[in-house]
Amino acid sequence: MPEWAAFVDAAKRADKTANDARILDAAGVKVDVSAQPFSARLDDAGHNLLRARDFEIARSDLFEGRQVNATEGRAAWHTMLRASSPISEVARERARLLSFVQQADTERRWHNVLHIGIGGSDWGTRLMSAAFGYRRSWRDIRFVSNIDGHAIESGTAGLNPHDTLVVVISKSFSTAETIENAHRAVEWLKAAGVNQPYEQVVAITCRPDAAREFGVPESHIFPFWEWVGGRFSLWSSVCLATALTVGVDVVGGMLAGAAAMDDHFLHAPIAENAPVQMALAGIVNRSVLNYASLNLAVYDSRLSYLVPYLQQLEMESLGKSVDIAGRPLDVPTGPVVWGMPGTDAQHTFFQWLHQGTEGAPVDFVVCQQADHHWPDHHQQLLAHCLAQREALMKGKPYEAALAETHHEDEEHRNWLARHRVHAGGRPSNLIVLPRLTPYSLGALVALYEHKVFVQALVWGINPFDQWGVEFGKALAQRIRGEWQSESQNSLQSADRDPSTSYWIRQFSAT
Ligand code: F6P
Repeated sequence: MPEWAAFVDAAKRADKTANDARILDAAGVKVDVSAQPFSARLDDAGHNLLRARDFEIARSDLFEGRQVNATEGRAAWHTMLRASSPISEVARERARLLSFVQQADTERRWHNVLHIGIGGSDWGTRLMSAAFGYRRSWRDIRFVSNIDGHAIESGTAGLNPHDTLVVVISKSFSTAETIENAHRAVEWLKAAGVNQPYEQVVAITCRPDAAREFGVPESHIFPFWEWVGGRFSLWSSVCLATALTVGVDVVGGMLAGAAAMDDHFLHAPIAENAPVQMALAGIVNRSVLNYASLNLAVYDSRLSYLVPYLQQLEMESLGKSVDIAGRPLDVPTGPVVWGMPGTDAQHTFFQWLHQGTEGAPVDFVVCQQADHHWPDHHQQLLAHCLAQREALMKGKPYEAALAETHHEDEEHRNWLARHRVHAGGRPSNLIVLPRLTPYSLGALVALYEHKVFVQALVWGINPFDQWGVEFGKALAQRIRGEWQSESQNSLQSADRDPSTSYWIRQFSAT
């Protein structure tokens, strides 16, 4: 596509010295893209590329609930879940959730919530719980996601079964880990003498029939819809546990913040559109400058779960190698997304970011206002965040390194200085929340959802399916089936590599 070629050429020639401050305001979140490659030519090329990809029609299809998920024949209508005037079924389920929580609060029921789900049925609640747990009400929440028995064991340890609500979240209601853990949780309730264990279970799923079959009472089933992707589902009744443990106002704030970001994404001109500008910069970094990954440096320890949340959102959406037509792609798409809270990150991998052979673009996330009583701590946190970004931007040339290196032997001093050079010109975004509120977190999550959507559009891939997770699951079921069958010789399947066959035999005795 000529527009792609022009974009690539302009990106290679763009200025990487961050000479112009480019700070966008998106639903109250400041997105500073100054440290990304930029030029008027690249800006024009980005506009032309989006036009060539029918961006405005694609965006309208997304918001109108049209079939944007081609391989599964579905819409991806997560924006409807936070609409101020939603369709009737969304309004109905919001009201049901609210009423369930209000009744539980009035009756002061369930001091504990045992949250069972995985992936998109888990990360969102963990994110909101950790972000706002300090405001926690009188309820406690435990998370069980992994099939590893230690998860259910530690999740239930010390809980009073008679005062625990089991929240089972599964869009498909068929994810092995979740269903197994849900059965163990019911057995745990029964073993403690709970007479009506299923009265202490709620299910949030697209398969109410399967939840009913599991034994969940109708009034405890909160359905959502096939047009809600798992990694986009925290806006649905998936947030029930959050409403119970950190409050319905948190859920309301998240929805409002995401809706504000939707409005920004829909109406801001391209040059001021934060999801679009982050998307284009990310495409330059990944597909033109060949950075293999994107680092998330989240300078707020309450947002530790933003990393795995965005890992799934980005990597399960953009980890594709064929376009919508099924043709192999010839440019690198979806980066590896990784990271951790700063300043811990500075003592873990920032050496690699500063002086590694390739480094990685960094998304710095920080809250301007703290919610604690240690202003000097917060000032140091902000200083570290800005300083790390400045160091990546401007680097340290040999002359500067030499000037700060002292040794009586000139040759030794020159040698040491060479080890202290920083390349600089390493791209980053700085995302500043005014403070960490449900509104600002909702806006931040929606910012990344729309960034991913734009990147997928430009790369020509489907961000809403995840065929790649099915193969491994099928192989695991085959291995388990072989362990459960009596005949040992089935463990030597012809089409299997010798190493896997060896370990299947070794583990079969376990
Ligand atoms: O990882 C594959 C996946 O299907 C995710 O997309 C999803 O969030 C997770 O498993 C859990 O799926 P479910 O909500 O259907 O249990």
